[in-house]
Amino acid sequence: MNKDLVRDFNEQINQEFYSAYLYLKISVYYRERGLAGFGSWFLAQAREEEEHAVKLLSYLAESGQRVELQEIAAPDVEFDGLEAPLLAALEHEKAVTARINNLYDFAFTYKDFQTADFLTWFVREQREEMETAAGLLQKMKLFGADAMGLYQLDKELAERK
Ligand code: FEO
Repeated sequence: MNKDLVRDFNEQINQEFYSAYLYLKISVYYRERGLAGFGSWFLAQAREEEEHAVKLLSYLAESGQRVELQEIAAPDVEFDGLEAPLLAALEHEKAVTARINNLYDFAFTYKDFQTADFLTWFVREQREEMETAAGLLQKMKLFGADAMGLYQLDKELAERK
């Protein structure tokens, strides 16, 4: 693999762990406010992000490349109200999508078609992640201001395994 591509893969591994950290922060935020369903939903999301990191890491290792685990930054955000974490999650997923697209583009530039093929899973996953994040924010805007609506939404999110 091209050295710059390996560097960017390693950065992306770090970013996926950062995503997990951000979602853990969101999970804690909701739990502290009595919304256990939101809390468990974001806990599951954090675990999914760790899986993304491991998927990238495994690809590097299996390709005989050096995996470099870097320091994970603390999420530098404070939330002002119940809607704010969902907006932060959506903005974050947009940024991750841009990064994945760059990686994909990079793989093509270096004619590394195997890596590009591997990354198509992430390209598709990002589409799903952004849709989910936008959907959650929309539901919160529609139903979150009403106590019963919020209660139902929390119940719905608690069902995620
Ligand atoms: Fe790993 Fe939410 O993208």
